Amino acid sequence: MSTPTVHHITHPLVQHKLTLMRQKDRSTNNFRRLLHEISMLMAYEVTRDMPTQLIEIETPLEKMQAPVIDGKKTVFVVIMRAGSGFLDGMLDVVPGARVGHVGLYRDPKSLVAVEYYFKMPHDMADRDAIVLDPMLATGNSAVAAVERLKETKPKSIRFVCLLAAPEGLKTFHAAHPDVPVYTAAIDRQLNDHGYIVPGLGDAGDRLFGTK
Ligand code: URA
Repeated sequence: MSTPTVHHITHPLVQHKLTLMRQKDRSTNNFRRLLHEISMLMAYEVTRDMPTQLIEIETPLEKMQAPVIDGKKTVFVVIMRAGSGFLDGMLDVVPGARVGHVGLYRDPKSLVAVEYYFKMPHDMADRDAIVLDPMLATGNSAVAAVERLKETKPKSIRFVCLLAAPEGLKTFHAAHPDVPVYTAAIDRQLNDHGYIVPGLGDAGDRLFGTK
């Protein structure tokens, strides 16, 4: 059985921008831009051990063998809707990546995550999947999304969020101990409405200005 891993990204730039995002008076425009910037910085950490291969190139002075990554082997998997706020920054850094989408809603009676959309690229067995959702709160949708993703048998899976609640991490690790989690912060707890506290509110609403 794998030991669950959490990578806490403590880089000062990430922490500074996260603090700005948490502030309740931050505009939608600003919030979106900050998430974009943080996702670029987090992409740097998440892809740290990406495999490279040597290709022959010619500098102005001579030929050499130089490393390149194969971005096409990466698939960013967006959990709708807030996960899409994480996507563009990641694609800025890994422009060759493919993108998959998972849409889930919580059935109000059973509280079970119900899938309404699922679309991945072909040949998942060749691809490293990086799942994006800014908030790991109860962990239920993350667990369901990764469960569904595993059916496509990607080469590897990582989960990236901006904020995690201890409860969500526990639930996620129990279901998927083999999937490392990358997060910029682990907050105190969930409140009675399933929000992360202190948190930053509803990430989707703040990102899209829907409240
Ligand atoms: N989803 C959010 O957007 N915010 C939370 O605090 C919890 C879940």
